[in-house]
Amino acid sequence: MLAAAPELVNLTCPLCRAPRQTSRLGLAEVYLSEGDFVLEGMLRCGASGCPGRFPVLQGVPIVLKDFRSWWQSSTAPRSGPLCSSPQMSSYLGRVVADSYPQQALLSTYMTHHYGSNDDAYWQAVTRAIPEQDCGRALELGCSVGGFVFAAARRAKVSVGIDLDFNLVAAAAGIQRSGEVQYRRLRRARAFEDVHFDFEVPGNVVFLVADALDPPLLAEDWDLVAALNLLDNVALPTVLLGQMNALLRSGRRLVLGSPYQWRPDITDPGEWLETDAMDSASMVRAILFEQLIPPMQLHYQPVFDEPDLDWTLIQHDRQRRSYRVDLIVARKD
Ligand SMILES: C[S@@+](CC[C@H](N)C(=O)[O-])C[C@H]1O[C@@H](n2cnc3c(N)ncnc32)[C@H](O)[C@@H]1O
Repeated sequence: MLAAAPELVNLTCPLCRAPRQTSRLGLAEVYLSEGDFVLEGMLRCGASGCPGRFPVLQGVPIVLKDFRSWWQSSTAPRSGPLCSSPQMSSYLGRVVADSYPQQALLSTYMTHHYGSNDDAYWQAVTRAIPEQDCGRALELGCSVGGFVFAAARRAKVSVGIDLDFNLVAAAAGIQRSGEVQYRRLRRARAFEDVHFDFEVPGNVVFLVADALDPPLLAEDWDLVAALNLLDNVALPTVLLGQMNALLRSGRRLVLGSPYQWRPDITDPGEWLETDAMDSASMVRAILFEQLIPPMQLHYQPVFDEPDLDWTLIQHDRQRRSYRVDLIVARKD
């Protein structure tokens, strides 16, 4: 995390959500740093009486209302104790290592974000970022950060949030080192080391935070994106409402999803589709025709790519393909 990150992002406390200025989070303690980067430290809420304290681990602020529950979940760190000496953490990283599913997931998303940026999917997705200065850009569910870095090249500040510590820590590692480095799965258990330089813009911040309860100010963002997140949350309408709340009027929403609803993630009652209406139609009706009036969503279409092929490579002989509906819209 850059030392100036809390100010750049306008981080607000998810515990008290006190009025704009008082619940701002600031870096109160620095335990370990590397140049401008704070690797370990503590953010605190500025509101009097609020107990909000949020740790920074491996350069990633974790700004969640319920840290303890998250710590028990599969999205928390798995790479052994989070010790402070680089030699020991690198040793533990190699010996204890992440679990195989986590290594495989990291391999898939690093390859997707940094290994195939010239494919039609990335071209369409980056076309959603305005050519001219796009101001303050935010991606919810950013994974390893490819879109956040792409947006940063045209934005004042570009922020990515995700619940998965390992993915966000990989993005923050690229930002710190200027290198993409990961173990790519080639066969079921054979990894190959991938390593190359990556030009890192200086205006990027990554956080562990919940897209359904983001520690961010309302109407503070000029571009809010969620790529392949809508069908990965328990409450998709809450995600749409949060995106709308974060976005300034006249600014850009970028929403992409294959609508691969899964009952273990999203209760079928919350799926944005019915027997009579598919998800692509329902999401457009919500955004453009006020299908759910209390949500007060008023958008104009900018462009869409309703049948975008999206392929995730697990290893050389396994890949998963989806057809993503990409909607780019302007908030009235
Ligand atoms: C299918 S992946 C898509 C990642 C990336 N946007 C892309 O398109 O390559 C969904 C991501 O959303 C994250 N995620 C799921 N629920 C979330 C939540 N409530 N808040 C933030 N991130 C979340 C997951 O950890 C995962 O990285």
